[in-house]
Amino acid sequence: MTDTTAPAPRAVRAARRRDRRVYLHARPALLALLAASRRRPVLRLGRRTVLINDTDTYRYTLTRVPLDRTAAGTTGGAARELAPRGASLLFDQRGAAHREARRAVADSLGAAGVERLRPTWRALLARRLAPLAAGHDLDLVPLARELAGATVCRLVDAAPGTDPMALASAAADAAAAAVRDHLPGPRLPGTAQLAAMAANRLRALLADRTLAGPEEAAQHAMLAVAAITTTVAALPRAAAWCATAHLWPCAADDSLRPALVRELLRVTAPSPLLPRVSAANTTLAGHRVCAGDRLLLVARHAARAHDTPPDAHCPADPATAQLVFGAGPHACPGAPLARAQLADTLAALAPYRPTVVRARVDRRAALPSWRTLTLRATTSPSTPVGQR
Ligand code: HEM
Repeated sequence: MTDTTAPAPRAVRAARRRDRRVYLHARPALLALLAASRRRPVLRLGRRTVLINDTDTYRYTLTRVPLDRTAAGTTGGAARELAPRGASLLFDQRGAAHREARRAVADSLGAAGVERLRPTWRALLARRLAPLAAGHDLDLVPLARELAGATVCRLVDAAPGTDPMALASAAADAAAAAVRDHLPGPRLPGTAQLAAMAANRLRALLADRTLAGPEEAAQHAMLAVAAITTTVAALPRAAAWCATAHLWPCAADDSLRPALVRELLRVTAPSPLLPRVSAANTTLAGHRVCAGDRLLLVARHAARAHDTPPDAHCPADPATAQLVFGAGPHACPGAPLARAQLADTLAALAPYRPTVVRARVDRRAALPSWRTLTLRATTSPSTPVGQR
């Protein structure tokens, strides 16, 4: 019998401590701000910024409050960097134009789309996990990059021979440069030019490799950034949680794995903070908000990542777990793909019951991420189940 019972509190604390390092080493100011404010459902910071932690207010803001999708310092504003002059890219669209553009993307990322893409990452997992079986260590971060890059290559029908690692690194550079360019406060000289250059490099790579025109290459670039930065953040962080909290028996169990995947995505909240700008005067949990005010939506707190550990037996309500993918008309269309990739990665790793032997934080990445996450097998798939 495998032990799928809830993990010991000490193991959960160790997993949480390890995961906090991706904030502590790369975004200490953000971590301090989030920690200090998390008990306040909504908090005004200065004259024009409102921090939103509360689950219902987070959902209400994304579904009911008109948002300025093109404002500087928002995800839509950063996405514009990827578009040729005058064009728009989902994140910064509204109304009918958004619904139409979104339908095309949602079709390719629905259940049939996920099944079409699945053989790409399954083949890769089978190949790249072989070193674990041979007793070697495995760094999961390059594997996550390759997996995300190869999936996007297939999604956008890139030419055979397109290098998934080159695509992943161009997308990561473009995302990191855009985040630096859109951070509130003073910017270093040249930040905007560096962001524009990184976006150009990514678009050029995709235009060359997909025979796409400039607008289509920009759409592909937006998909590459949205899919690759989140996947490269999510997979290693979720695997580190699994290894440190001793959750591999749950990951190996077909009936518990789907709940475990939702729970790990909930507690890692790979995209922890959604920067938005209100386009109307409104009231949020008793706080007056004016058009033009900056809204910092803390997905991590709305999904209760900070105080409710993952539990595949008694998972958070799905509507709350789903909040790490946003809510409303712009909610992430890639959520089913992200869940399928994490489920397959955990299922492939589980027979080895790996432990983390080295973990280094990526200080440059757009999202809190590991730069290195080295795993070592503690058992092999041939070991009888009861002895693992
Ligand atoms: C764990 C992985 C992922 C997380 C945590 C995540 C999270 C998010 C979040 C928070 C949003 C903003 C939602 C809102 O404003 O309400 C978003 C939007 C989006 N995501 Fe994801 N995402 C992930 C993976 C992916 C993947 C794999 C793809 C594509 C293959 C993708 C494509 C998109 C797109 C295109 C949008 C913009 C949708 C729109 O504005 O209509 N995401 N994602």
